[in-house]
Amino acid sequence: MATNDMKEEFVELLRSTEREGVDDVIESLEEMGFFTAPASSNHHLNVEGGLLEHSLNTCKAALMVYEGMLKLEPSLAKEVKREGVIIASLLHDVCKSDIYFRSVKKRKNAIGQWEDSEGYKVSYKNFPMGHGEKSVILLLCNGLSLYDDEMLAIRWHMGAWGINMNSFEDQRCYDTSRKLYPLVSIIQVADGLAASIMERTGQEMDEL
Ligand SMILES: [Fe+2]
Ligand SMILES: [Fe+2]
Repeated sequence: MATNDMKEEFVELLRSTEREGVDDVIESLEEMGFFTAPASSNHHLNVEGGLLEHSLNTCKAALMVYEGMLKLEPSLAKEVKREGVIIASLLHDVCKSDIYFRSVKKRKNAIGQWEDSEGYKVSYKNFPMGHGEKSVILLLCNGLSLYDDEMLAIRWHMGAWGINMNSFEDQRCYDTSRKLYPLVSIIQVADGLAASIMERTGQEMDEL
């Protein structure tokens, strides 16, 4: 899908939530470079617009998981609202908007010759605040209203991968968030499904 179409879909989905501050946050995302950033420097979607595509994939997976779980557990509707699923999934990786910078790397081609390859390097100099926690802070600072479950779903979206295993407090907070708020598990699983099913590339499979 072309970047412009993805951007339109993203903005439409986010506006559909009618959440206070949504227009301010869309403007800030534009300034931070969210709509053109890649999703990684070396792995999946390391291309312009990759972060936008990953965010949309995560949202689509999250809505599927949500709708599927509603069929199994209809009482979930009382605990998780559709707009919460949309907001947390679309915005979980906003922290990546300002960390990728264009660079040229030397890489060996198929016949072993070195050649220039355009790519991205990573720097955290703009706001070295971490990952999920950085997304939450950026969203709040840019005027978006968020409920506790949305903040926690974004904060803990990396699941066990994002926890400092030396921190008892981190482990307890993650576990408590998951038990209190089903949205935490929905976003975590959707992020994983997007990366491991929707975004796998042939090159990645070759390199295994
Ligand atoms: Fe992430
Ligand atoms: Fe992600």
